[in-house]
Amino acid sequence: MGKGSKRKHQKKIDESIDSESETQTQGLTTLLDPPKPKKARKVVPDSDLCLVGPPIAPAEARQRWPHRYQSKNKVKKQAVTEASNDEENEVLQARNHYVEAIVDGCRYKLGDNAYVKAEDGNLDYIARIVEFFETVDQEPFFKAQWFYRAEDTVINKDNAHLIDKRRVFLSDIHDDNPLNCIISKVEIAEVAPDNDSAAKESRIPDSGLYYNMKYSLQHLTFKNIFTETSKKDNGTSSVVSSECGSNNTSSEVQRFDKSQKYLLDLYSGCGAMSTGLCMGSSLAGIKLVTKWAVDINSFACKSLQWNHPETKVRNEAAEDFLCLLKEWEKLCQKFSLLEPNKPSETVSSETGEEDDDDDDGQGCEEEKEQEQEKERQDDSGSEDSSEEFEVERLLDICFGDPNKAKKRGLYFKVLWKGYDKSYDTWEPIEGLSNCEERLKEFVSKGYKSNILPLPGSVYFICGGPPCQGVSGFNRFRNSNAPLEDVKNKQLVVYMDTIEHLKPRYVLTENVVDILKFAKGFLGRYAVGRLVSMNYQARMGMMAAGSYGVPQFRMRVFLWGSHPSERLPQYPLPTHEVFSRGGVPIEFEEIHVTYDKKDSCQLESALTLTDAISDLPQVNNDESRDQRNYGTTARTEFQKFIRLRRKDVINLTVDSRHAPSLGMLCDHQPLQLNPDDYDRVCHIPKKKGANFRDLPGVVVGENNRVEWDTTMDRVLLKSGKPLVPDYAMKFVKGRSTKPFGRLWMDEIVNTVVTRAEPHNQTVIHPSQNRVLTIRENARLQGFPDCYKLFGTIKERYIQVGNAVAVPVAIALGYSFGLACQNLCGDEPLMTLPFKFPNCLARSSQIEGGDSD
Ligand SMILES: C[S@@+](CC[C@H](N)C(=O)[O-])C[C@H]1O[C@@H](n2cnc3c(N)ncnc32)[C@H](O)[C@@H]1O
Repeated sequence: MGKGSKRKHQKKIDESIDSESETQTQGLTTLLDPPKPKKARKVVPDSDLCLVGPPIAPAEARQRWPHRYQSKNKVKKQAVTEASNDEENEVLQARNHYVEAIVDGCRYKLGDNAYVKAEDGNLDYIARIVEFFETVDQEPFFKAQWFYRAEDTVINKDNAHLIDKRRVFLSDIHDDNPLNCIISKVEIAEVAPDNDSAAKESRIPDSGLYYNMKYSLQHLTFKNIFTETSKKDNGTSSVVSSECGSNNTSSEVQRFDKSQKYLLDLYSGCGAMSTGLCMGSSLAGIKLVTKWAVDINSFACKSLQWNHPETKVRNEAAEDFLCLLKEWEKLCQKFSLLEPNKPSETVSSETGEEDDDDDDGQGCEEEKEQEQEKERQDDSGSEDSSEEFEVERLLDICFGDPNKAKKRGLYFKVLWKGYDKSYDTWEPIEGLSNCEERLKEFVSKGYKSNILPLPGSVYFICGGPPCQGVSGFNRFRNSNAPLEDVKNKQLVVYMDTIEHLKPRYVLTENVVDILKFAKGFLGRYAVGRLVSMNYQARMGMMAAGSYGVPQFRMRVFLWGSHPSERLPQYPLPTHEVFSRGGVPIEFEEIHVTYDKKDSCQLESALTLTDAISDLPQVNNDESRDQRNYGTTARTEFQKFIRLRRKDVINLTVDSRHAPSLGMLCDHQPLQLNPDDYDRVCHIPKKKGANFRDLPGVVVGENNRVEWDTTMDRVLLKSGKPLVPDYAMKFVKGRSTKPFGRLWMDEIVNTVVTRAEPHNQTVIHPSQNRVLTIRENARLQGFPDCYKLFGTIKERYIQVGNAVAVPVAIALGYSFGLACQNLCGDEPLMTLPFKFPNCLARSSQIEGGDSD
């Protein structure tokens, strides 16, 4: 049995199991032609194992299963046309087809479901019977369309406990089996894909199973059954089927309705993922707005807030944020803003109305704080000061331990009557029991202005929960129980947040290690959690370089969509970048790429020249974080990446942005210490240069470095060795990365969070320094107007952590199509634009001089 075989063996079910067409007559039956006598061999119906009844009329059988009637030999080799390859497949040839069969005295009809014998030690398989036929050797056979149990899917046995034991998934995998493999009948109810458990329970037979989704090996997809048929109803857009390699600019992309949808960016970093998603969805005509963002890193929050004044940025741990959301829901219920246990509809974002953006969550809103301070000063002038502490107003809310007093809980920031800002304190909710009115005021206002998301009010959650426990660099990885490793706990927090808020769409990003570590446990867990919540899900692995940046950077993206929504597709590459690094074989199917045989015109991969050759020269000790360009753009990429904020899609401009308009920001390198700088100055300016080119190092057998014994060790001015020991020992002397110099015709492997040259190739091709923050930002596809905050190291971290902007744009576009029901059922789609041209609000951008 070929159950679980790979994509090339998949076939679509082309046979309908329509009982009316299962005519019991032979020959073409029309109203005028009476049934002709049956000529086919009559099968004895009372045998224990046999096909029963008269065979299906030959003409009808040949029409429905033509591939079974092509030869008198047992099998016929034929090209598999439905799967995406030309390999030959053996098709069992038939004498006759039947409608019924008897196995062990039990009668089966076409369309019945049955347990099918598996290899010893395995649970019996589950199949839908889609064909009964007698082979040319007169053997009774059936064709099975397989159901998968959770443990047979990508979720696998380690995470199968997440899924209801009675739940199975229909697949498109078929194969032929001798009739005697059937063991017993099983009832499998098709239930509606929504979450109404009472309705579901009423449909599930007592000893039976149920299904509401199909499972496909292509991109390991779990998808509602209903969307298969709904496609025809919604007029699939021509946007989806545009030619691959199209050079359209954003202005040529069709725009659809403008309703506003709210995005929550969890683990937002400086906001690259949500920035790109909102840009991409706007290209599809959807106004997606990052309403809330959460990150534990205050500098990342500051960057996000500056670039997105419209976002309520919360600088807190995601686990605290989740506790806060639960408390917030209770408070909204308490003050009758929400019905108990009913998702919030009142704050639905569908209306497209802007909220009153009053008191935000704790964040980087310095300007608002200044305003509040002014208000208080005004107020305090008109009020009598009193020694008694009285709450004037609640300013903010958080969950955690804001006073660092080892007392976690729900806290409010209090403005005390008669006292200024410097006296504000965080007070636990228990201490505010006699301030119900103030509390009510705060909650009502916060509810109205959406300070926090409520279940049902978030349309889309995106996030890259850190899973540091999977990193290949982490020597203490716990591969037996990956979720018990606190470094991987965030994946659970993230999924719990999804479970609480129940958004319509989810997009999760992670490193490829999530599929490698512990046999992909965490990736499987993420899918299992989504499917257990009844989300449709599919996985894709995308290389940033394939979308128009000179950086390879492979990442995993997991889509989830609510049962009533379309599951987004993966956008196919626009640029030709060759695969580097392997993935486990079970996950090869998720690589988002063209089939080799598809002829398509991809753009050539970009190089460092394309991306950074226009940037002015800077020294190792550059201190300005803002300067004039002093140069003009030399390439298409540079022209578009330099666009001013007002010319970039989806970025707002306000007074805070004025000082940096037209300026080049963050073009500063990590300042190397004098020894490292000295070393970098010794690295020749040639392609492929690294520490191996320094005097005293020779390359021996197996590409390992050795000390040159014919000479003394060369020393720096400081007396330290020119070639440090760690460079010689790195990867047992086989690495070429220490003090590696990049070259302008190259594409980098991946932009990382640290800029030290000790074990990575980060030195500028022609200058004696590492790549600057801005150069890295360009390799990640950030427009130059996206300014970053924090120390130099912090800014490198934000850029290195980010989702490459063009990848997020491409995925945002897919989302935009899906949420308008404009995408197809197939997992892949072509983009009608390319990066960075798509950044332009208008395609009429002239010139590129930003100085
Ligand atoms: C991979 S980065 C996300 C990058 C982001 N998606 C982007 O595109 O810019 C992961 C982020 O998780 C944040 N983080 C780590 N632990 C956290 C926690 N417990 N709560 C909230 N944020 C956390 C880090 O500060 C980091 O910014």
